[in-house]
Amino acid sequence: MVTGRTIVAPSLLGCDHGELASAAADLERSGADWIHLDVMDGVFVPVLTFGAGVAESICSSVSIPVDAHLMVDRPAALVEAFAAAGCRYITIHPESSEKHIHRVLGKIRDLGCLAGLALNPATPPDIVQWVAPLLDLVLIMTVNPGYGGQKHISAMNGKIRTVQRMLEEAGRGDVLISVDGGVNSSNAGTLVNAGATVLVSGSYITSSSDRAQAIKSLKV
Ligand code: DX5
Ligand code: ZN
Repeated sequence: MVTGRTIVAPSLLGCDHGELASAAADLERSGADWIHLDVMDGVFVPVLTFGAGVAESICSSVSIPVDAHLMVDRPAALVEAFAAAGCRYITIHPESSEKHIHRVLGKIRDLGCLAGLALNPATPPDIVQWVAPLLDLVLIMTVNPGYGGQKHISAMNGKIRTVQRMLEEAGRGDVLISVDGGVNSSNAGTLVNAGATVLVSGSYITSSSDRAQAIKSLKV
């Protein structure tokens, strides 16, 4: 249901990577609710972005929550550093080489952060029911991870609804459902109606000449 309470989380992926901290501060002034950090290790996805040191600079430059989306092959080795960097949410992928996703989600919470699970487009949502007690956020990828500016996969609307139902059945209707990939003002309403509560958006916001207006247009 469209409520006007959608959390808008701009991704910094398309910003100048030499000035990410000031880009994040600028997005906060433009009305962002969270900052979304796309952490890529060159293994889980072909691209390499940045590590916890850069994340720390970004976290220090804003007062809104920072969500670290770890597109990395071995998330367990990194969660401690991203927690120490000041990230509020740490989101990991079950398609990574990590064999003990349940344990790592618990570790994220033990570090005082909120735990997120990200699902690639081809990943069945069933895992959600088995880790629901440990979740604070489910991130549904609506592109294949690795690059900004890709075409949104609208077939994921069904997965959003399925995840919402699974969370409610598990008594965890409070878990945030985030959508990431090709999100813009044309599909925001449909995504929120399907059950999304957080909209991650990269190129639509950062390539806009009026970022404040672009962010506002997503608060459906
Ligand atoms: C893709 C990243 C996304 C990406 C979104 O791998 O996880 O966060 O930056 O960018 P757009 O909105 O351009 O698809
Ligand atoms: Zn992302």
